Amino acid sequence: MTELTEQIRKRLTFAIISHPDAGKTTITEKLLLFGGAIHIAGAVKSGKTARTAVSDFMKMEQERGISISTSVMGFEYKNRKINLLDTPGHADFSEDTYRGLSAVDSALMVIDSVKGVEERTRQLCVVCRMRATPIATFVNKLDREGKDPMELLDEVERELAVEVRPITWPVGQGKLFKGVYNLVERRLYLFRPGEETLPVDVVEIDDVNDPELDVRVGESLARKLREDIEMITGVYPPFDKAEYFAGKATPVFFGSALNNFGVRELLDNLVTLAPEPTPKQADERLVVPEEAKFSGFVFKIHANMNPKHRDRIAFLRVVSGKFQRNTLYYHVRADKTFRAANPTAFMSQDREIIDEAWPGDIIGLHDTGTFKIGDTLTEGECVHFKGIPSFAPQIFRSIMNADPEREKQYHKGLDQLAEEGVVQIFSKIHQPNARVLGVVGQLQLEVLQSRLETEYNAACKYEPIDLSIAHWLACDDKKKLEAFVDANVRRILVDIRGNYVLVSDSEWGFNRIQTNNPDIRFYETSEMVESRA
Ligand code: G4P
Repeated sequence: MTELTEQIRKRLTFAIISHPDAGKTTITEKLLLFGGAIHIAGAVKSGKTARTAVSDFMKMEQERGISISTSVMGFEYKNRKINLLDTPGHADFSEDTYRGLSAVDSALMVIDSVKGVEERTRQLCVVCRMRATPIATFVNKLDREGKDPMELLDEVERELAVEVRPITWPVGQGKLFKGVYNLVERRLYLFRPGEETLPVDVVEIDDVNDPELDVRVGESLARKLREDIEMITGVYPPFDKAEYFAGKATPVFFGSALNNFGVRELLDNLVTLAPEPTPKQADERLVVPEEAKFSGFVFKIHANMNPKHRDRIAFLRVVSGKFQRNTLYYHVRADKTFRAANPTAFMSQDREIIDEAWPGDIIGLHDTGTFKIGDTLTEGECVHFKGIPSFAPQIFRSIMNADPEREKQYHKGLDQLAEEGVVQIFSKIHQPNARVLGVVGQLQLEVLQSRLETEYNAACKYEPIDLSIAHWLACDDKKKLEAFVDANVRRILVDIRGNYVLVSDSEWGFNRIQTNNPDIRFYETSEMVESRA
C-alpha cells in the first residue's frame, strides 16, 4: 500500500445533520471526549449558535476564534483520523450547512425520539439525497417517553425517502429504558441512567430466546423485544454496505447522548462502516482520491477574528493526492499560482500549522481576498468541482449604499461578504447597477449590515421588494434560454457567477411560467446549472 492509500483509508470525514435541539451538540461533545480532543464536557457549547439572539451572535462573530476551531474538529480514534464538520445550528445559516455537506463523505443524522422527523432534518436530507451522501442515523433521547420505534422508522422512510436498516434496537423507552440489543453483534447493551462515566454493561445473547434476556430486562420487555425482532427481520432486509454507500439505506442506532449511552458504540460502528474519502465529481471528470496529483476545493470562507486586518480563512477540502505546504498550486478560476505558507489543520480545539494534508482533510488557507467559495486548487489541471451550490433565497431586498461618501468601501464590503456567502447578490438585466439581495434567513440581513459597519466602515439600507421565489434556469438549447430571458427580462436576475435566476412573487405565477415553458428547466439550487462566468 502506498502512503497515499494508507492515509486515505485512515480518514473519515462527516457532518452531523439534525433539527436544533435533537442533540447534535451533546453528541459532538461525546465524540470529541472519546477521541481525546476535549477533556471537559461543555467545551463545545461555547461555539454553538443555535437559539442565540442576534446580539449574542454578533458577539460570537467577534470571538471568531471559537467558531473557527469548532467548524472542523479533527481527532484520532481507533487508528482513524476523523474530521467532523460542524454545521451552524441556526436555520438562518442553512446555506453554510448545505455547502459544508459538499465537503464530507457521509452524514450522521440525529433524530429526537420524542419529536420524530423535523423540518430542518427534512431539508438537509434533500441536500444529501441530491448527492447520494450516505447517511447513518442515531435516534436520540431514548430515556424519554418517545414515539414507538417502529412508527418512527416508518416516518423516516416515508418522509426522508431512505430505507432504514436497524443495527440496534431499543429495549423499553423512557422510565423503562433498559438499553439496546445489537442485532448484528447479538449483544445486549445495558443502560444505567446517569452513570455516564462507567463503561456500559454488555451481555452476549446470541439467541433472543435465551432466558438470560428475561433476567436482564424483565419478562415483559424481553417478550416485547422478541416480538419486535421477529417483525424487524421480516420487514427490513439485512444491512448492506453498498446500499448505505449509495445513499439508499441508512443504518439506524438508538441511544441517549445526554446519558452517554450508545454514542461510543455508534462511533465504533462508524469507524468500520462509514465511507473513506470518496471521489468527487468535477464539471470535466470524476476526480479520485488515489490520484497522485493534489486537488481540492474551497467550500467555506470565514472572516477572521481581527476585523482591522480583514484577513480570512478559506476552508479547503482535499479531494486527491497529497497537499504540501509552500508548494506552488494552480488556482483555476484566477488562472494564477498560489502558495500556502501557513496552512492550518483543525485538530482538537486548536489550529496548528501543517506541512501536509491528505484526501478527506479540511485545511485552512490564509486568504487575503484570493478565494471565492467553489474555487479549485490543482497541480495544473483545469477542473471545477460541482456541489457548491447557492440555494434559492426566500427573502429579497433592494440594497443601497446609505453613505455616499463611502461608496467604494460599500461596494468592496458587499462583494467580499457575498463571496464569503453571508448573502447572495443579484443584478438586474435591465438595470445593471441595481443590486438585489437574497437571503435564506432574516438574521443574514442583520449580520450583513453590522459587518459592513464594523469591518468596512460602510452603511447600507434595504427596501422591501415583492419577490419570494427564485429558480435557477437551464436549457439544452442556449438560444431558447436567451429567448426566454428576453421575454421575461423584468423577472430575471443574474447571480455572481453570471447565471440566470427567475424570480416570482407567487407560487401560482411561477407555476404558470413553468407550464408555458416546458423546454426550460427550473432549479431550486445553482448546483445543476453550469456556470456561465
Ligand atoms: P442541538 O445541538 O441539536 O441543538 O441539541 P443539544 O445537544 O444542545 O441538546 C438539546 C437539549 O436536549 C439539551 O437540553 C440537551 O441536554 C438535551 N438532550 C440531549 N441528548 C439528550 C438525551 O439523550 N436525553 C435527554 N433527555 N435530553 C437530551 P437543554 O435543557 O435544552 O440544554 P442544556 O441546559 O442541557 O444545555
